[in-house]
Amino acid sequence: MSTDAADYRDSGLVFPDGFVFGSATASYQVEGAAEEDGRGPSIWDTFSRIPGKVWNGDTGDVAVDHYHRLDADLDLMRGLGLQAYRFSVAWPRIQPGGSGPVNPKGLDFYSRLVDGLLERGIAPVVTLYHWDLPQPLEDAGGWPARDTAYRFAEYAAHVGAALGDRVDTWTTLNEPWCSAYLGYGSGAHAPGRTDGADALRAVHHLNLGHGLALRELREVVTKDDARFSVTLNFHVLRGVDGTAHEAKRRIDALANRAFTGPMLRGAYPADLVTDTASVTDWSFVQDDDLAAVHQPIDLLGVNYYSTATVRVWDGTGPRQTNDGHKDMGGSPWPGADDIEFLEQPGPYTAMGWNIAPEGLEELLVSLSEQFPGLPLMVTENGAAFDDVVVDGRIHDVDRTDYLRRHFAAAHRALHRGVDLRGYQVWSLFDNFEWGYGYSKRFGIVRVDYDTLERLPKDSAYWYAELVRTRTIPPVPGLAI
Ligand code: FCB
Repeated sequence: MSTDAADYRDSGLVFPDGFVFGSATASYQVEGAAEEDGRGPSIWDTFSRIPGKVWNGDTGDVAVDHYHRLDADLDLMRGLGLQAYRFSVAWPRIQPGGSGPVNPKGLDFYSRLVDGLLERGIAPVVTLYHWDLPQPLEDAGGWPARDTAYRFAEYAAHVGAALGDRVDTWTTLNEPWCSAYLGYGSGAHAPGRTDGADALRAVHHLNLGHGLALRELREVVTKDDARFSVTLNFHVLRGVDGTAHEAKRRIDALANRAFTGPMLRGAYPADLVTDTASVTDWSFVQDDDLAAVHQPIDLLGVNYYSTATVRVWDGTGPRQTNDGHKDMGGSPWPGADDIEFLEQPGPYTAMGWNIAPEGLEELLVSLSEQFPGLPLMVTENGAAFDDVVVDGRIHDVDRTDYLRRHFAAAHRALHRGVDLRGYQVWSLFDNFEWGYGYSKRFGIVRVDYDTLERLPKDSAYWYAELVRTRTIPPVPGLAI
């Protein structure tokens, strides 16, 4: 069968048995209860209080109150037929000080969450770090400091020991690209520092933390078929002129291979080290670090939203920096300030991100070629749009169509032989979208921020049908 987009149907495609359909959230974005049951402060609590950092001064203090509404939310997941729920553990609930004693009430919340999922037949997919670093660890240097990697491994061991008899899939880090380059390079994310050398130190210590945490987890986890993974946000790159090859290589090194190199091949790419020589000499990489980082994983988590087009700036006119991230003064691309990010062709989501489902297919195929034998899972994909409630319904045709197109792209990848095990839609709920606060709605379930009521959107019903039938349904209200 040909896989040309033109003659590949978008609806009616059937996913194989065993393919797992789920949805994802992250602790700081949904939990709220920021000062309850012994939770300590995280870098996002601090950052969101700095004027001008987050839209409207929004914080995660209440978020969607998932912490208190756990049972109802679990019932909602069951109602949609979800087969997996990807959530993250808030490190500051487990170790309010970032190290040392464990807070039993913190562990208890996640233990109840895991039990509640299992009772409803939903597989727990746990991320250990989705960006809410305990503030005391940032005060001690944050991810640019080597010690943070060791603290992360210690924390992972505590969570692994408590939940390791029940969790289906363990993910060490979510998108370390964002933690390092947005947190310490551009300053758009907490803690909001803007130093390229610190960003690269953070890259390495996140990688090291990943490897050290995996070692600990494998010691303490008792569930025989538990899987271990990491989730990366790969940059799918396009080039436009004679500089295409060079520009793509440079950004691929910083964005993608800075993580896959050490984690999956046991070395930093030589070109990355050369390209960034004016920023750092990489002397923070110590003997044996790469062996520690290079641990076997069972699954690679892939987050995908859009593509980027790059070229080497010719030095004339203003340099274009349309890389899809808020401009907060610093650069998220250490050593690559001569690379331009061009405006993408539309259509766009409410984030201004271009909609390019073929990028997902291309990425999945490329990863399976680069890392043969490594199963993949889409751990995030979804879209923000400005929803309107009409007579108690949200006819979110754009979001539903976005999902339909990306599921079709994933299906094409499967058809081309990619070992893709599942798909977690971002997000189950509207939630705190980092620097954009509550202004961007990614949920398939709407949250009314006044009443905190949940209201499934049309996309949620569409998804429930996909999960139930394993077949991509047509999009209501859209002629195809
Ligand atoms: C990803 C994050 C997730 C969410 C989506 C829109 O980068 O992992 O928390 O913000 O983007």
